[in-house]
Amino acid sequence: MSINFRATHLFLAAIAVIGVAIGEPEHSAVRAAGGGRRSDTQQTQKADGSRSVWDGVYTAEQAKRGAPLYTQYCASCHGPSLEGGEMSPALVGLDFTSNWNGLTLGDLFERMRVSMPQNDPGSLSRQQNADILACVLSSNKFPAGTTELALKTEVLKEIRFVAFKPQ
Ligand code: HEC
Repeated sequence: MSINFRATHLFLAAIAVIGVAIGEPEHSAVRAAGGGRRSDTQQTQKADGSRSVWDGVYTAEQAKRGAPLYTQYCASCHGPSLEGGEMSPALVGLDFTSNWNGLTLGDLFERMRVSMPQNDPGSLSRQQNADILACVLSSNKFPAGTTELALKTEVLKEIRFVAFKPQ
């Protein structure tokens, strides 16, 4: 009985490892949809570092963690719903997304990390900034995924900020 249980456990662990080796959550979606081999080409694309904000680069959990941080550190100027204030730009909507279109998440992360909150720049940790960034992405309706945002700027620079959903 216990051996059986262990075997099942190992089996599940093996599947998990294979899953990680295969990579991005899209692959399982493609397979589930019967896409079959197309996952091979997808994987090559991913290896080229062509990830964008449309690929589920943060988690819903992380965005939830970021929301109270945003309220505490950013909302006084950027508004309770990121809509912007008298002097401060909106962090949601087309003005914001087109402003960052073609840049990377690393650029946006650095902008926040170095120059914000404007009344105490650089005071938040990388983790806090990443969580707030997840909240900003969620507010702009970019899809959540299964992996949290990295805390390293170099890694975030590999994720392109693309305002419009690729067709
Ligand atoms: C004291 C007011 C104030 C606070 C607090 C504040 N900001 Fe700002 N923020 C501004 C102003 C004003 C600008 C535009 C001027 C500038 O570039 O500094 C700005 C610009 C930005 C930009 C650039 C927007 C764009 O599209 O170019 C981002 C991103 C940003 N803030 C994020 C944040 C985040 C995240 C927080 C909370 C951690 C925060 N800000 C807190 C006042 C503030």
